Amino acid sequence: MSMRLGVNIDHVATLRNARGGTHPDPVEVALAAIGAGADGITLHLREDRRHIRDEDLARMSAAISKPINLEMAATDEMLAIACGVQPHAACIVPERRTEVTTEGGLDVAGQQARLGPMIARLSAAGIRVSLFIDPDPVQIRAAAALGAPVIELHTGAYAHGRVGELERLQTGAHLAAELGLECHAGHGLTFQNVTPIAAMSQVKELNIGHFLIGEAILIGLPAAIRQMRSLMEKARS
Ligand code: PXP
Repeated sequence: MSMRLGVNIDHVATLRNARGGTHPDPVEVALAAIGAGADGITLHLREDRRHIRDEDLARMSAAISKPINLEMAATDEMLAIACGVQPHAACIVPERRTEVTTEGGLDVAGQQARLGPMIARLSAAGIRVSLFIDPDPVQIRAAAALGAPVIELHTGAYAHGRVGELERLQTGAHLAAELGLECHAGHGLTFQNVTPIAAMSQVKELNIGHFLIGEAILIGLPAAIRQMRSLMEKARS
């Protein structure tokens, strides 16, 4: 299949942390996700460590052979951690302490002075950098101008049913490809809404977490991943 599925396991840690113990273990679940067909594992080490923690990232990096995509805020602390762990990819996301989840895309155009050196440092460490942005041509052009090789388009507004958002994503994916950016997408994707996103030939990777982990409670993680992959394949053919 030409499109990769990255499984975000943050919410396995949310569940574990609810009881303060070690079960369920995000690393064990990542291995199960890979066994079921995940092409990579995505995890977001937040500033407040509300789900994944530093030791999870270290154990993940030692235990799995598939690519790790580390979602991170544009802070010096996260930059140092990423350069130390050296995941395959780092996706820079906006982060606010009070938000429930990543609410909007990164303001690349407004933060060029901060992001430019950070992209350069991560790239020099051999990490493939992606920027999590809204499908806004200004942001997409700014990402290309800063030399990021990848963007991840925020599908949250589409998932919430915002009118015209699918068209914005399609236009954004076209523009990214024209500018030579590899285009990924994610946030809020489910069995019900994934098909139009997976059908975009410019989108090379989807990162999906909350829905798959929730669905795993009902049908099991391997079945949830297989069904998602099957929908992605059908959308592509
Ligand atoms: N991509 C990015 C950059 C994200 O921040 C998130 C949420 O952590 C996701 C994808 C996955 O979103 P969801 O959990 O809604 O599938």
